[in-house]
Amino acid sequence: MRTNILDIQKLKDRGERIPMVTAYDYTSAQMADRAGIPMILVGDSLGMVVLGYDSTVHVTLDDMIHHIKAVVRGSRQALVIGDLPFLTYTTVDQAIQSAGRIMQECGAQAVKLEGGAEVAPIVRRLVNLGIPVMGHIGFTPQSVHQIGTRVQGKTSSGAARLIDDALALEDAGAFGVVLELVPAPLAREITAHLRIPTIGIGAGVHCSGQVQVWHDMLGLYSDFKPRHAKRYASLVETVEAALQTYATEVREGTFPGAEHSARMDEAELQAALSQSKAGKA
Ligand code: KIV
Repeated sequence: MRTNILDIQKLKDRGERIPMVTAYDYTSAQMADRAGIPMILVGDSLGMVVLGYDSTVHVTLDDMIHHIKAVVRGSRQALVIGDLPFLTYTTVDQAIQSAGRIMQECGAQAVKLEGGAEVAPIVRRLVNLGIPVMGHIGFTPQSVHQIGTRVQGKTSSGAARLIDDALALEDAGAFGVVLELVPAPLAREITAHLRIPTIGIGAGVHCSGQVQVWHDMLGLYSDFKPRHAKRYASLVETVEAALQTYATEVREGTFPGAEHSARMDEAELQAALSQSKAGKA
């Protein structure tokens, strides 16, 4: 049975912290699922870590659909949340179309969208239609060209706005809120004032749960390490070393060995040669 949003709320109510991770394909979804991660986010961070764009702004709904489908196929237990990408929820009607595709075509169990009080009417309508919605406030990567990449809510007015945004999302029916790059003490207060779980990234330990980007936490880059990410593995070195060994063995002729090669009876081969044009020449 897949985790649903009621299970996630129960974790929060029991005071159990909630791990969430991003995934973008079948194989990584299988691994996250086997590791017992209850929520997998197919984030539009896909644009940067998988597709090589410089921001999430370039990601289309079709890009998301392609990857969300793979993650749903790869997972059995986790609640799969699909990100609504940039400019796909500018009106209630457009949001219904976009979220509908993520739920119906992909089989995701929820969507996530960025924004606070200003998107509350959209969240309310989606939730009323039976689409679970996760909010996302603080640093919202789709607004990178407006706000840059920096911690949000450091001033009293900015912090008050984030508190009100979180409350507006909860009131609209969101089942959780991502707090990205929010000062830890502010994230603690937001969490204390909400009934629904907060999921932090760069927002401190007092959130109800945490989310990390797959490539960041597994060390799949050699050159980039965001401050809010902890490297639980350094796969880039492991993978590059394996690829170098492979290339060397191919060049030297030590791969493939007999154990990696298909066999054939030598007599059959000789008979084939004599029957073929090669044998008659
Ligand atoms: O797209 C994404 O991966 C996200 C997380 C960083 C929360 O939105």
